[in-house]
Amino acid sequence: MTLKKEVSKIKDAVSEEINPELKKETGKDKEPKLTDLPGIGPTVSAKLEAAGIYDLMSLAVMTPSDLSDVAGVGEAVARKAIQAARGMLDLGFMDGTEYAKKRESIHYITTGSESLNALLGGRGITSRAITEAFGAFGSGKTQLGLTLAVNVQLPPEKGGVSGKCVFIDTEGTFRPSRVKQIAEHLGANPEKVLKNILVARAFNSDHQILLLDKVSEMIKNGEPIKILIIDSLTAHFRAEFSGRGQLADRQQRLNRYMHQLMRLSETHNLAVYVTNQVMANPAQLFGDPTTAIGGHIVGHAATYRIYLRRGKAGSRVAKMIDSPDLPDNETVFNVTVGGIVD
Ligand code: GTP
Ligand code: MG
Repeated sequence: MTLKKEVSKIKDAVSEEINPELKKETGKDKEPKLTDLPGIGPTVSAKLEAAGIYDLMSLAVMTPSDLSDVAGVGEAVARKAIQAARGMLDLGFMDGTEYAKKRESIHYITTGSESLNALLGGRGITSRAITEAFGAFGSGKTQLGLTLAVNVQLPPEKGGVSGKCVFIDTEGTFRPSRVKQIAEHLGANPEKVLKNILVARAFNSDHQILLLDKVSEMIKNGEPIKILIIDSLTAHFRAEFSGRGQLADRQQRLNRYMHQLMRLSETHNLAVYVTNQVMANPAQLFGDPTTAIGGHIVGHAATYRIYLRRGKAGSRVAKMIDSPDLPDNETVFNVTVGGIVD
């Protein structure tokens, strides 16, 4: 009740100038509810929601034993509910044209730099994908995040999606003043732009994980969130699991987190941008002796990985490291008062 009120208050405050479509999102989603499934009554549904499972998709991808644990129902009931959810969602194969159609719903968010957009395939970062930027301190990871937080609010003809941003800040580096500068540079109202960015400070890795449920909930409540930014993805995990003996634990948790992120991005057609630090890798004899934290776990889960470093005369160099459909190119961009530019 109070949450609903809060949400509608936020919606009223939404910038209409930069983004007139923001208000139209609610009311359109008449998807089936959890309680439409066999064996899932209001009590069980409430339990599931408390565990962060709000929609059929989240339930459909669970195993019967996981669902049985979370919901406190028998495995047979759990299996039936999962099968029913899968049936309703039509999760099987689709032919190539249907698949292409699904891909059409993908949206793009400009980085502000044509050359960086080109590196990412032409139009910036994409929804239904995780884009990871890794690099040393000062390489521009956070600045790119802040720029995306503003650009997502632009209308499509200007390279945005008229959407809101969720910014999960693990290091206390979110700077409203920088957001305002970037907004001003675009000729937008800085206060309104700031209002469309929902910021949460994650105090530890558990909190960081928990916040994803909050994001699902806000989207369910009609918030037109189109990008999720996590800056930094790995800092808490790295700090909390620092011993050699804890590495396997850390990787396992990171792995689970990455899968939650993928699911969120796929379910809600969300763009996900995460930043990652690097560490020196003494085993690397040639080339740049830095590797990203989280290793293969993060690397495989991220759809696009770009490596950022400082270039000549204050410029930045971005290199595409891993992508399903793009060449491993390199390009130059700049960080300015107005955000990322060519
Ligand atoms: P860590 O979080 O420390 O790992 O680094 P990061 O990669 O997130 O670095 P970040 O994106 O914060 O980049 C910081 C750099 O951006 C600064 O060293 C500046 O070079 C540049 N920068 C930040 N703000 C401005 C600005 O207003 N104008 C200009 N020209 N450059 C800026
Ligand atoms: Mg940073």
